[in-house]
Amino acid sequence: MQQAPSLDDFVLLKRLAMGAMSEVFLAEVKGGVGPDRLVALKRMRPEVAGDETWVKQFLDEAHLSTLLHHPFLARLRTFGQQDGLLFLVFDYVHGLTLAQLLEARRAAGQGPLPWAHAARIATYVAECLAYLHVLRGREGQPLGLVHRDLHPGNIMIADTGAVKLLDFGIARRSGRLTETQPGRVKARLEYAAPEQLREAPLDGQTDVHGLALTLYELLSGVQPLRRETPVRTMEAVLKEVPRGLGAVRPAVPEALQRGVTAALAKESSRRPSLMELRTSLDLALRAEAPLVGLPELATLVAPWLPGSGRLAWGQDRAREGATVTHTADVSRPTHGTKG
Ligand SMILES: Nc1ncnc2c1ncn2[C@@H]1O[C@H](COP(=O)(O)OP(=O)(O)O)[C@@H](O)[C@H]1O
Ligand SMILES: [Mg+2]
Repeated sequence: MQQAPSLDDFVLLKRLAMGAMSEVFLAEVKGGVGPDRLVALKRMRPEVAGDETWVKQFLDEAHLSTLLHHPFLARLRTFGQQDGLLFLVFDYVHGLTLAQLLEARRAAGQGPLPWAHAARIATYVAECLAYLHVLRGREGQPLGLVHRDLHPGNIMIADTGAVKLLDFGIARRSGRLTETQPGRVKARLEYAAPEQLREAPLDGQTDVHGLALTLYELLSGVQPLRRETPVRTMEAVLKEVPRGLGAVRPAVPEALQRGVTAALAKESSRRPSLMELRTSLDLALRAEAPLVGLPELATLVAPWLPGSGRLAWGQDRAREGATVTHTADVSRPTHGTKG
């Protein structure tokens, strides 16, 4: 990691997303060559720069990301600060978030994902979460890490078919700098687990719930606990059992439906463990589906990749000094940008 990186080391090409706290840009390392020159630069928004809670949370994400090393995570290259604005620099994932993929398929009249592709994506996310949950810190201490914010906007499928889990903005570990402030930095309501709303202690079982909700949505196109108002959504998260997947998507194997239903149990101790959920998905896949792995997932996203198929690396070079408003063709999907 280089010393004291500066924003001047990068040319911003395009805004990829804008959230409450930060914006994410596709950027180019000045003087870089090949695909490696592209990065995703997550920069704190000027509006929140003076807010201590947000600043601490941003620093938490940076420090945590320096500990992470897994093929299903976008690598943090460096982080820094300029003019009071913190920024994180990640490897750019040339691909689509699952939210963008669902939206693109919907717009093309294709409906939700083929069940085997959705189940395979979920087994990969489960494997990545299993790594996170047992991760230890530099002194060998268990970190007790929980992602806490699983949803289709925080999971990407790269052009290689690799799954990439994003956004450790509210990931939790024991002894972290910031604890979530009531009413502040939280998971999106419709994807939260009951224990998150009750502000009860969390563990890896919270991510089992988030993964099952994500899988439900990939299979049905529906966010099963989302209601018309935040209050109704909270009630649904706390009390309502989503309709069985069989009613929404009958072709999905029963073992898989049962696995998802069990993982959505309101009480976290009644949910299967992450590895049990992964096993039940894998068994369903092996029993009833053609092989789905990276090449098949690559084919799934290929029609909608930013820049119409593989980026033609030579053609999209931004001119030196170009700003975000000067280039528009590098990344096509701009809908559903809030991760
Ligand atoms: N490494 C990356 N490569 C490509 N796109 C990314 C990357 N990181 C984030 N993005 C895009 O930016 C969006 C927001 O990033 P995220 O880290 O989830 O921030 P937020 O905290 O605002 O949700 C993602 O949904 C994705 O579209
Ligand atoms: Mg996000």
